[in-house]
Amino acid sequence: MTAAVPKGPGASKPAPRKPAWSGRFSDVPSDELLAFGASLPVDRRLWREDIDGSKAHARMLAKQGVLTYEEMRDVVRGLDGIAAEIQAGTFTWDNATEDVHMAIESALTARIGEAGARLHTGRSRNDQIATDERLYIKRRMRELATTLNTLRRTLIELAEQHVRTVLPGYTHLQKAQPINLAHYLLAYAQMFARDFGRVKAAHDAADVSPLGSAALAGTGYPLDREYAARELGFADVTINATDSVSDRDFLLDALYAASVCQVHLSRLSEEIILWSTEEFGFITLSDRYATGSSIMPQKKNPDFAELIRGKTGRVLGDLQALLVTLKGLPLAYNKDMQEDKEPVFDALDTLEACLRVMTAMLASATFNGDRMYKAATGGFMAATDLADYLVVKCGVPFRRAHEIVGGIVLTCERQGRTLQDLSVDELQGFYMGFGRDAERALVIDKVVEQRATPGGTAPKAVMRQLELTKEQFNEDEQEQALFF
Ligand code: ARG
Repeated sequence: MTAAVPKGPGASKPAPRKPAWSGRFSDVPSDELLAFGASLPVDRRLWREDIDGSKAHARMLAKQGVLTYEEMRDVVRGLDGIAAEIQAGTFTWDNATEDVHMAIESALTARIGEAGARLHTGRSRNDQIATDERLYIKRRMRELATTLNTLRRTLIELAEQHVRTVLPGYTHLQKAQPINLAHYLLAYAQMFARDFGRVKAAHDAADVSPLGSAALAGTGYPLDREYAARELGFADVTINATDSVSDRDFLLDALYAASVCQVHLSRLSEEIILWSTEEFGFITLSDRYATGSSIMPQKKNPDFAELIRGKTGRVLGDLQALLVTLKGLPLAYNKDMQEDKEPVFDALDTLEACLRVMTAMLASATFNGDRMYKAATGGFMAATDLADYLVVKCGVPFRRAHEIVGGIVLTCERQGRTLQDLSVDELQGFYMGFGRDAERALVIDKVVEQRATPGGTAPKAVMRQLELTKEQFNEDEQEQALFF
């Protein structure tokens, strides 16, 4: 039986059973080759979607008179029975089958006989897998949006507690201007709000039914594609059958949305890692979200934040992997496309887990307001405000004011002093126009209060940011509840 297969791996072992497509073959690949070509161990995860797709297809075939009503009823009941067993963990997956479609179809035929063998009428595994994957992405994007929104809510709640917690804001990782912690947390809230938009867009990209495209050219059976699409909850049907079975853009969209969100988590992780150093001391992680060292008794490591940062490489790699898999493919379906599932599962599983860990880690952390305040008053973070004082009070052009204050900073630095240490007399030594009220320009809380433009860090402006962020969040939650 295996004589025609040259020495290849496992060539001596006969295949246990004929594959479904073996009609035109006089010989079949070895077990090892069949295992190499199989996707069941990976795509079994699509069983729900595969069964839903088959039920909708069967109902549509019966409505169109291609299956009898009784055949359709047997198919639907048989599939429901299989679904219940898979759910309960009692279904035996036949590892000799190639993929989830074959595994479920052969189990169905074994149970209900000929009606099971009629299910695949007017359908190809090419439109079947595209349908399964689109249904799957829709479900995972909904779940992801829910997990993402829990993190967004946590950030908003934390921000509400820290409208008056002052800390240094950095550019180039050098102290720049004082801000408050709410302002900082709301920056991340905006990043994750945009991620919500991308997740929703990926959901919508998947929300079009390819079912009924068959292999690539459509079919001669009188299918009602709209009916099947409605049964499955799709918003629309695809326009071109060849594109329908070749298109994996919706997977790329999901992977891109996941990648950007993971990058945001990674940046936040980096900040948590930095802030939990002894040098910064801005944040103390709960003991439940840190681990120790096996050799250094004093260590408390932010492992989970590091892991989120580390896992980002995988998620970005997953997007890259699929892009490269697709880049040279001619139309229509090519077996290369079977490789599309692992990166998608990996990226979405990783992101889900990272979002959950990040949310709990933030919610249980302590923000050390005293350390932050001390760091904010220490350096020269009121320098811009001192220059602004000269502009507003003395009519000095900003460039000139910048130069004067630069000279003050240089002198302080040489003497190991801060701006707040300077008396008004000393300030007047640099520019006569400085008045008694110049000291007030240097009080760090006042400095924060000054920045009251929309989107600014003044507590008043931050309260408005909070309002807008909550409105945006509520709208997104409503949109999810209603439309996706
Ligand atoms: N297991 C295949 C995949 O995941 C299903 C589609 C196979 N179609 C085909 N003509 N071989 O891509």
